Amino acid sequence: MDILNLIKNRRSVRKYSSKKISDEVLYSILEAGRWAPCAGNIQNSRFIVVRDFEKKRQIANACLEQEWIDEASVLVVVCSDTESVKKHYSKKGKMYAIQNTSAAIENMLLCATGFGVGSCWIGAFSENELKDILEITDEIEIHAVISLGYTESPPLPTNRPQQNTIMFFEKWGNKIDKNIAPLNEKIKKKVRRVLGR
Ligand SMILES: Cc1cc2nc3c(=O)[nH]c(=O)nc-3n(C[C@H](O)[C@H](O)[C@H](O)COP(=O)(O)O)c2cc1C
Repeated sequence: MDILNLIKNRRSVRKYSSKKISDEVLYSILEAGRWAPCAGNIQNSRFIVVRDFEKKRQIANACLEQEWIDEASVLVVVCSDTESVKKHYSKKGKMYAIQNTSAAIENMLLCATGFGVGSCWIGAFSENELKDILEITDEIEIHAVISLGYTESPPLPTNRPQQNTIMFFEKWGNKIDKNIAPLNEKIKKKVRRVLGR
């Protein structure tokens, strides 16, 4: 699958079958997270792998009772040593720490898609509750939970805005791409010629 199709094929999966993810596949997905780009290569991302059902159930409750979460074969709780980033980039540290973990998360979701594994990025959770369940120390932040598992009912694609509603060229608000505009004009002229107008 080419990379754009892979990106377009990723779905947030919230219903999983009982099929387990092999350790080989899981470690490849984690490896994709490790190789994400990272501001200053400071490496603030940490990953807690949870396979134990009872713990998954507790995590599902801590994720504002999203009960479907415990059906996933594996959960990866994505944490951040944000202080290490703030030491280097005081003002921007917080933002970079989040961007670093987000890049790792997206890498893992895409890698999972490539293996035919469904996933969901989960951001709705009580950080305090998750910290208690996983014995995470005070200075570490939790940025996300990722659910991973196989599904027999892949969801339909969700909507995305049209390119021309979210993209500008050369300056804010300019929707005309000067590389494409002459081409559009050429096509319009051709259409007018064909239609005899
Ligand atoms: C930061 C973030 C937080 C999210 N939190 C949740 C969540 O708590 N529960 C959930 O079911 N989906 C969550 N999602 C998934 C989004 O709902 C989903 O990506 C969006 O609806 C688009 O659907 P798609 O991923 O299938 O393309 C989250 C996604 C992101 C990026």
